[in-house]
Order: sequence, then structure tokens, then C-alpha cells
Amino acid sequence: MEIIVTPNPEAVGEYAARRIAALIENKPDAVLGVATGSSPVPTYQALERKVRTGLDMSQVSAFALDEYVGLDEGHPQSYAEVVRRDVTERLELDPNLVHVPSGHAHDILAACEDYEAQIREAGGVDIQILGIGANGHIGFNEPSSSLSGRTRVKTLTPKTRKDNARFFDNDLSQVPTHCITQGIGTILDSRVALLVATGEGKADAVAAMAEGPMGAFCPASALQLHRRAVVVVDEAAASGLKNREYYDFVRDHRPDWQVEPQGRDERTVTSAHRRTTT
Ligand code: GLP
Repeated sequence: MEIIVTPNPEAVGEYAARRIAALIENKPDAVLGVATGSSPVPTYQALERKVRTGLDMSQVSAFALDEYVGLDEGHPQSYAEVVRRDVTERLELDPNLVHVPSGHAHDILAACEDYEAQIREAGGVDIQILGIGANGHIGFNEPSSSLSGRTRVKTLTPKTRKDNARFFDNDLSQVPTHCITQGIGTILDSRVALLVATGEGKADAVAAMAEGPMGAFCPASALQLHRRAVVVVDEAAASGLKNREYYDFVRDHRPDWQVEPQGRDERTVTSAHRRTTT
């Protein structure tokens, strides 16, 4: 796991957007995994600035991590709407290439399987953008979720419903109790997992994810198994990390082949490394 500590949320967004843009410049039809919540907003804003200055995202496809079950179609807080506003429109994506699990399908279990099939047919996710819940959830995989689960229906914890009530006029009764979420197994299949976290409220979850034992009690800790997990945090979210000095040392001593020059994605970097080491 690569841990990059930056001074503030804007710098988190800039750094994450730079890595995503490098991938897209090299692979214009990249597949992005997109997260909702407040954490990735600075990343989307930074990407939007890059789009305004010429980054072409028109061939990029996107798969959302999760969706509430039971909200009316078009509900402003449904993730379909959040993704449309914060991602599709801002980044000028082709709406036909943006996918969100259906929270009101007649056969919801079939819809979950179909979502997994759509991801496979698209060739898999190149970069999965992730936030982290204060209780360590990723997507909506709450503590105790299977670490190998696939897209399915989950019950939200009271803590997550309370945290998300701010998006529903602080009225808990309006917050759905169930959701569809990609499973941790689905997330681990992504080629790169890019998790962003900001603020002191995430410090414990970030420390448990990166430095705690891997286990279902902190679902994000499953990223310890991911072959290419990149965690970008601000100072406040990094404040619980014990091994901080080492992370900064790694960041400041990245070999040339590991630095992402324009137009090279993670796989190109890896093959360049292989060329220089074999
Ligand atoms: C939400 C989403 C997650 C998100 C997390 C943190 O409920 N399902 O994808 O990462 O909770 O949200 P925020 O970034 O607003 O703190």
C-alpha cells in the first residue's frame, strides 16, 4: 500500500486527479470506478479543471460503487443523481458509458449479477476511486462484510445512516436502510485502488485500514491484499498513522520509473520497470 500524505483536501484532490489523468492520457477509453460521498469531490473538481484545459474524457466509462435501495428514480440523493451531477456532467463523460447499480429494479438480485457482468464486459476497472467511512467501510461494505463479496444488497449500519442523514435534511427517517454495493471482492479486482480521505474524523479508520490487522471489522483493511492500493490523505486524516516517517520517505524517494510522467499509466510504469530490471 502506497500512502501519500498531502497538506490539505485540495492537495489530495490534485494528487489523485494527476494519477487518474495520467492513466486516461495513456488509455483514453479507461474504465473508472467512481465513489460518491464528500471525500472524492476535490478529486472530481481537480479533474474538471484538467478537462477544461484539454483532458478528453469522452471515451471513459465509469461504474459507481453503490446505490441506495428504495429511493424514487431521480431522487436528488440517489447515487445515480449524485454521479450524474458530480461526475458525468463535471467531467463531460458520455452518459451512456456511466453505470450505477439499480436501486429500484424489479429483480434486484438479478440486477446485482448483471452489474458484475457489465464490469467484466467493460474489461474490468482500471482505477477504482474510493472514500472510506468513519467505521472503515468502503463502498457500502459495512463492518462484518465478506472480504470476498460481490455486488449485492447490504443493510446499512445505524452509524452510516446517521452520518449520511446530512444529505437528507438531517432527517434519519428519510435515509434508506438498504443499499446495493460492489463487494470487496469486486473492488479488489480493480487494477488500481485509489482511496482518498480527509479530516480528523477519518484518522482512526485510515490507521486501522493501513496499519491494523486485516479483518472484516475494518472492511477497508482488505486493501492490504490489493496489488496496487494508493491511499492519498491530508494531514488530519494521517494523524493516527504510526509509520508516517516511512511513508514520507517512500514518497520523497520514488525511483524515476515510479514517478508518473504524462501519458504513462500504472501498467506502462510496471512494464518500464520490468524492462530496466530484466
Ligand atoms: C458513503 C459512501 C462511500 C463513501 C463513504 C464516506 O456512505 N457509500 O462510498 O466513501 O460513505 O463518505 P464521505 O466521503 O462523505 O465521508
